[in-house]
Amino acid sequence: MKDGERDIMSLQQILRRAGIIPVIEIDDAARAQGLAGALMEGGLEVAELTLRTPAALEALEAMKCAAPALKVGMGSIATPGDLRRALEAGADFLVSAGLTPALAGAAQAHNAPLLPGVMTPSELMEAVQAGFSTLKFFPAEAAGGPAMLKAFAGPFADVRFCPTGGIGPERVAAWLALPNVLCVGGSWVAPRAAIAHGDWQGIAANARKAVVLAKEASA
Ligand code: 3PG
Repeated sequence: MKDGERDIMSLQQILRRAGIIPVIEIDDAARAQGLAGALMEGGLEVAELTLRTPAALEALEAMKCAAPALKVGMGSIATPGDLRRALEAGADFLVSAGLTPALAGAAQAHNAPLLPGVMTPSELMEAVQAGFSTLKFFPAEAAGGPAMLKAFAGPFADVRFCPTGGIGPERVAAWLALPNVLCVGGSWVAPRAAIAHGDWQGIAANARKAVVLAKEASA
């Protein structure tokens, strides 16, 4: 799976660069330009929109248009159709909470950089067998916290993770200290209500804080 491996490499590069990925729910695509500007102003280079609102696909297109340098992934991908629509909208990467054979097949067919979610060793083994070695760990805090990924490092030494779910700024350092963690995801950087209110200063301030936290963790 040569092409797939190339995509997994570029996915890893995006995630490493990210440090912290804002996981975003957006209700109005008209807010996308302001949001992209606030994230960039704060120094973030990567974001994830979730396909959980009707505005998500249009918002992704608008963010890519407003800030072409910003890598924007589409999360909450559940079906091959979701994956196709997200790619058509210009998603730089795709994120799913879990993995199904249909989704794995679609990712391979489209040569798409998919970050599938896992929670247990058996799910992890299935994802690796399907060709994925860069995985989302979800829901990270509820599923055992950093101790869980520390334990995974022994039997699954080649797998790298992006933990997401319940990770606030106070927990970022504990996760990023793990050698098998590339980045963490969290909704605290750009909360849904702050986007709806157009609180770009607040979001830019959170983004700046995220950049500092990621820098401190890698120092
Ligand atoms: C999500 O599902 O929205 C992400 O995992 C973000 O979770 P969080 O709101 O706990 O950061």
